[in-house]
Amino acid sequence: MGISDINKIPETVEQMSSIDKLYYKRLLQYIKTTLKIDVTQYKDNYIIRRLKVRMKATKCSSFKEYYEYLRTHPEEKEKLEETLTVNVTEFWRDITVYKELMKIIDNFIKDKSRRKLRVWSAGCSSGEEPYGVAIIILESMKKNNRKMFDAKITGTDIDKEVLNKARRGVYHIKQLRNLPANIIQKYFTKLNDEEYMIKPEVKRLVTFKIHDLIKDPPLKNMDIVMCRNVIIYFDKKTQAELFLKFYEALNPGGFLILGKTEILHGKAKELFKTYNARERIYQKPLE
Ligand SMILES: C[S@@+](CC[C@H](N)C(=O)[O-])C[C@H]1O[C@@H](n2cnc3c(N)ncnc32)[C@H](O)[C@@H]1O
Repeated sequence: MGISDINKIPETVEQMSSIDKLYYKRLLQYIKTTLKIDVTQYKDNYIIRRLKVRMKATKCSSFKEYYEYLRTHPEEKEKLEETLTVNVTEFWRDITVYKELMKIIDNFIKDKSRRKLRVWSAGCSSGEEPYGVAIIILESMKKNNRKMFDAKITGTDIDKEVLNKARRGVYHIKQLRNLPANIIQKYFTKLNDEEYMIKPEVKRLVTFKIHDLIKDPPLKNMDIVMCRNVIIYFDKKTQAELFLKFYEALNPGGFLILGKTEILHGKAKELFKTYNARERIYQKPLE
């Protein structure tokens, strides 16, 4: 398939012919029932773009061709799944980790000698992770009567489109399923039955920046680095190098939080202390 063929594949549902529409619908059905991915959280344009990535890789020049390819090549199922879920996230993903994080943040904010807290959400996707942390910080500031406490969270990602979504701060109700009702009420504005917008009070704490974890130097002077469900895309050597960058990013006593299926390894394993093995929380020792 040449460049001109891939350019002919429609980018929106409106541009599709009736045969394109028919096979696009079949693909959506496949994603929903076979891959068991909830497609309601995605816009059509996002799914079409991701399908085009796989169509290009498999040299298919129409939705029909790709649908047939998918049905006859079992190995393509996993590839499509990976391509579609690369940005998947939600508020307070893995609640047990967030319960530990609440205690860590509370200990920082309770400490009257401390005036500021810096958090880096590395590979933050559409912003659920950094905003979710901002909510925890605001709750702790209120509880500990520290209204002037200086907290800043930086969310970074390599993908500029997810960062645009993050800056908009509008989420489908499904993304909020782990949050208690009183938290939703306090920190979100209901736009309609399905969409909620994060309040300015939370937004104020969070800055988003494009950043490539592999190529760019790490941020500095961080108290907490969260890098969850990102390193799974990197090889072991790259992961080990990245852990050293996180060590460099952290202040002494700072915490590194990985995803539930991710484990610290390599040289960084000797540098960090394991704070909570189950929840994948590691601490940079105090000097
Ligand atoms: C599955 S999401 C994880 C979101 C969030 N951390 C969570 O756990 O819910 C993975 C994110 O990592 C980002 N990513 C992948 N490679 C990256 C890189 N080299 N530098 C920065 N971000 C990257 C992707 O764009 C994607 O948004």
